[in-house]
Amino acid sequence: MSKIALATLATLQGAHAWGVLGHATVAYVAQHYLNAATASWAQGVLNDTSSSYLASIASWADTYRTTAAGKFSAPFHFIDAQDSPPSSCNVDYDRDCGSAGCSISAMANYTQRVGDGRLSAANVAEALKFLVHFVGDMTQPLHDEAYEVGGNDIAVKFQGYNDNLHADWDTYIPEALIGGDSLADAQSWASSLVSDIASGAYKSQAAGWIKGDTLGDVIGTATRWASDANALVCTVVMPNGVAALQQGDLYPTYYDAVIGTVELQIAKGGYRLANWLNMVYASNIAKREAGSVDARDASPLPDLLGRDLLPAARPATRAQLARAAMEGSCCGSGREHEHKH
Ligand SMILES: *[C@@H]1O[C@H](CO)[C@@H](O)[C@H](O)[C@H]1NC(C)=O
Ligand SMILES: *[C@@H]1O[C@H](CO)[C@@H](O)[C@H](O)[C@H]1NC(C)=O
Ligand SMILES: [Zn+2]
Repeated sequence: MSKIALATLATLQGAHAWGVLGHATVAYVAQHYLNAATASWAQGVLNDTSSSYLASIASWADTYRTTAAGKFSAPFHFIDAQDSPPSSCNVDYDRDCGSAGCSISAMANYTQRVGDGRLSAANVAEALKFLVHFVGDMTQPLHDEAYEVGGNDIAVKFQGYNDNLHADWDTYIPEALIGGDSLADAQSWASSLVSDIASGAYKSQAAGWIKGDTLGDVIGTATRWASDANALVCTVVMPNGVAALQQGDLYPTYYDAVIGTVELQIAKGGYRLANWLNMVYASNIAKREAGSVDARDASPLPDLLGRDLLPAARPATRAQLARAAMEGSCCGSGREHEHKH
């Protein structure tokens, strides 16, 4: 294979939702805020007591969705908000979550499954791995947007590459900031975000990121997370419409305008994920380990396949047909052309 073909193959494989870097960083931020008891429960579930127990599995769901066994989970990485950016941004669960599910129904399903206690260890591990990933995906604005298939169909140029807006937000913009996508890169990005939360720019906002989050209403909570990120599609991702993004290279002017939002969203995802898992641990696992009667044990079993969590089926919309043309996937393959300078 030629050098160019190899390089192209490498960049195609490198494209994931929030790339590997973004997901691992969300996970490291979360690890910092997990209570000790939640952390050791998660390490047990994942059978990994290393210092990267969540970061190591943070992108598992992106690999799994490309396998035959995991194809069912491809729609869980996004919700196709059928709004009209940049003039109007909004998420409506009943309107936007297709009958095959979406990120919001997946949060509800895997939150129920991770804490239920009647499933196998493998099922619980699967649920935890999905949660770690989907909380991250939901903070990426273009994972909460149907327009041009979440930006996958918006051709742009970034740092001399011809690629698409979705892949730039997932992968290339974060990597332009950090300079790599290893676990060490993610860990060092996470420490800087954690200090911004502890004593820097995010100190006054962080409580607001998790305000109102409740296991009593997972669909409502996850819909707020999706709406929060979706609003950024109108205000930050494409405030002047698509044509304005296709005038030249997005680096450095557009990059400079959005990179603060990318950092904010990654920090938010990690902080939310930790709080979510701490709540799951406290209200399900801790009670069970203490042997106290779980009220749910006396109530009818929930549908552990979560079928009751989905909105009522409706005819496919144009946005859903466009997504189907991508075989239900969340993210295009990124860079399809060789590097041109
Ligand atoms: C847990 O991990 C260890 C090594 O890291 C391995 O030997 C063991 O089989 C694993 N246990 C399970 C239940 O997967
Ligand atoms: C819930 O999770 C199970 C196991 O992965 C899956 O088979 C089922 O389709 C999921 N249901 C929803 C509504 O996401
Ligand atoms: Zn994903």
